[in-house]
Amino acid sequence: MSALLIINIASLAGIHAKDTLQLKGTAMAELPEIKNAWLLCKDGLIADFGTMENIPSGLLDSIPTVSANGGYVLPSWCDSHTHVVFAAPREEEFVMKIQGKSYEDIAAAGGGILNSARKLQIATEDQLFESASARLHDMILQGTGAVEIKSGYGLSLDSEIKMLRVIKRLRETFPIAVKSSFLAAHAFPQEYKNDHEGYIRLIIDKMLPQIAEEGLADYMDVFCEQGFFSVEETSRLLDAGAKYGLPPKIHANQLSVCGAVETGVKHNAVSVDHLEVTDDAAIESLAGSNTIATLLPSCSFYLNIPFANARGLINAGIPVAVATDFNPGSTPSGNMNFVVSLSCIKLRMLPAEAINAATINGAAAMQLSDQVGSIAIGKKANLMITRPMPSLAYLPYSFGQSQIKIVILNGRIYDG
Ligand code: NIG
Ligand code: FE
Repeated sequence: MSALLIINIASLAGIHAKDTLQLKGTAMAELPEIKNAWLLCKDGLIADFGTMENIPSGLLDSIPTVSANGGYVLPSWCDSHTHVVFAAPREEEFVMKIQGKSYEDIAAAGGGILNSARKLQIATEDQLFESASARLHDMILQGTGAVEIKSGYGLSLDSEIKMLRVIKRLRETFPIAVKSSFLAAHAFPQEYKNDHEGYIRLIIDKMLPQIAEEGLADYMDVFCEQGFFSVEETSRLLDAGAKYGLPPKIHANQLSVCGAVETGVKHNAVSVDHLEVTDDAAIESLAGSNTIATLLPSCSFYLNIPFANARGLINAGIPVAVATDFNPGSTPSGNMNFVVSLSCIKLRMLPAEAINAATINGAAAMQLSDQVGSIAIGKKANLMITRPMPSLAYLPYSFGQSQIKIVILNGRIYDG
């Protein structure tokens, strides 16, 4: 049996009932906490917690103990949308952006996703694993304790499989949950530029069967956007994924309105992600559905595109999650602390709403909220201990500065 006792916690925050799997509406603003607390981890799980005044006698003498020294303890971030497997950064496009080129201009000039695909096709599985491991390690040190990772820079049978195998290896190597999404429908490769049907057939007839047979993906993703995959193409791909038991998690309403959110909802997507262009039709279709709206404010920040209408979504009773979108083109950062700050500063979310969106609702967007995303007995002891802070709002307020002092995963201090 392994055990760890955390004491002198100024506030143990994010305590939700074990059967609370996601939050919406006014409940998103509630982040129940216990002041002056202790928490016991046993066999990787949260075994018990309470106030220091009532700490059971005997615990302190018998269990290895770490003092939070007046810091806060929160559940680890759950980053439900990333593309951390890629071959190379694209900082040359960063300079083009500064010179006034748009995301669409850069893609049309042979940059963008196809640029990453060319580089990934010549990288080895080991090289991809090494560079993605370094990114994931940094993300964990910044508080991330569960992550979703997409393929989508392969765009050929072999390279998509290569990416998904790297994701599988990351899952087997790191002490955090890793979910995987199949995103061959990220862009049409050059050779299929004028043969969309050919590429869609390749995905449906060749890639999906092999991926399903090897059990390499949990979700089906499509970049449903003008100039990428149409609503009709997206529908066909989601139907095909469903036949192999892959529920949708899709890129929707990032750059324009084309009915992507509605298409995701119609296919009972676990989440529709981006929503920078949050039109009323998108909000209407999400209200009353089971689909989570995952917002990616650091993508808006980096691309200088609109920020999603988080308030409209929350007021309509839609569960909102936030995630990084870490990728070399639109969001070269995997820092959930910055995402939480931007959620407050730019999405006008209250600190408690932003933290719930980055924890329990992020977990729900990976169908993991029965295991992670809140403080509850029996959940994984994936936690962060902060420096002493005057209040919870200080965490997003002090943007760009990490308040995380100790990361605990499966009840153990993570030291890499
Ligand atoms: O989520 N929008 C599509 N995919 C990524 C960007 C990919 C890239 O530019 O490499 C995103 O923003
Ligand atoms: Fe993305």
